[in-house]
Amino acid sequence: MAFLEVENLVKEFTVTKKKEGLKGAVSSLFHPEKYKVRAVDNISFNIEQGEIVGFIGPNGAGKSTAVKMMTGILHPTMGSVKINGISPHKNRKAVVGKLGVVFGQRTQLYWDLRLGETFELLKRIYKIDDKMYKDNIKMLDEVLNITEIIDTPVRQLSLGQRMRGDLAAAMLHSPTMLFLDEPTIGLDIEAKHSIRNFIKQINERCGTTVILTTHDLGDVEELCKRLIVINHGKIVEDGPLNSIIERMAPYRYLVVELASPHHNLFHPAAEVVKTETLRVWFKFDKSRIAATELISDLSKTYPIRDVSVKEPDIEDMIMEIYKKPVIF
Ligand SMILES: Nc1ncnc2c1ncn2[C@@H]1O[C@H](COP(=O)(O)OP(=O)(O)O)[C@@H](O)[C@H]1O
Ligand SMILES: [Mg+2]
Repeated sequence: MAFLEVENLVKEFTVTKKKEGLKGAVSSLFHPEKYKVRAVDNISFNIEQGEIVGFIGPNGAGKSTAVKMMTGILHPTMGSVKINGISPHKNRKAVVGKLGVVFGQRTQLYWDLRLGETFELLKRIYKIDDKMYKDNIKMLDEVLNITEIIDTPVRQLSLGQRMRGDLAAAMLHSPTMLFLDEPTIGLDIEAKHSIRNFIKQINERCGTTVILTTHDLGDVEELCKRLIVINHGKIVEDGPLNSIIERMAPYRYLVVELASPHHNLFHPAAEVVKTETLRVWFKFDKSRIAATELISDLSKTYPIRDVSVKEPDIEDMIMEIYKKPVIF
């Protein structure tokens, strides 16, 4: 039995069609025209204890809706979720202590309380004993520097500090599984780094299983061995990170810096995608031509001062997924 089992999970929302103008608004009020949106469309997968899985896909793909069903916040239209064999929808009490959830777009802390007061409140809600609480605060201080902000009212925290507070709050009751929905959204590189480090540390030290939703390719490359890619509510990929990235984004960028301006750079195996006065971006398929060969060819013809190779970002990768036809 896997730690998390998701089977044929479906979520449909009923939404009211908006009609144009005042007449339309009045008509919608008395004769609402309803239709269904399938946000999550029959997804199934298993996750083993100790895994860090990247759950990625474009905006509106159904990631947050799936996370809400997996954590028991939303009821599925069809299908089932089991955590350690128990359904969070049928027996929420038995499961809630095993889970932690953080939504990057919405804090679960209380604006008017100091961070530490929120922790005390959670200690009572989750009936965390004194020893576990003390041990966890110590551990969270080591991985998130939490005591530095524990006496600050939540409303005065920066976005990065608030996120550290949210992550600490989600870990206080020692959950075995942590769901992180866009925890690095809007953060600067330093704050991102501290959150990545936290995820790595809790996974290594406590064996916490992590499901991570993100738009940052750096996050998944640094943390996840496995990716689940979701598009239009369906799973389009589930497997090792490296092979998925290779397959979905086999291209790289070569940024060429010229010693003097030169127009119309050309190579038969690469495409010029952007040009500045002294800089040209080539997009090339790694399986067609190696970066070294491309550099060697270009330097024979053009006055090249420097080059660098760039990986595609997740948004590019998602665009590639979008281009694929949706198979029903
Ligand atoms: N409460 C809701 N009522 C109606 N539609 C919703 C609701 N929540 C989400 N949706 C729709 O479901 C789809 C998936 O949304 P969401 O799960 O938030 O995607 P993601 O997190 O991948 O960006 C979107 O089309 C969204 O508009
Ligand atoms: Mg979302």
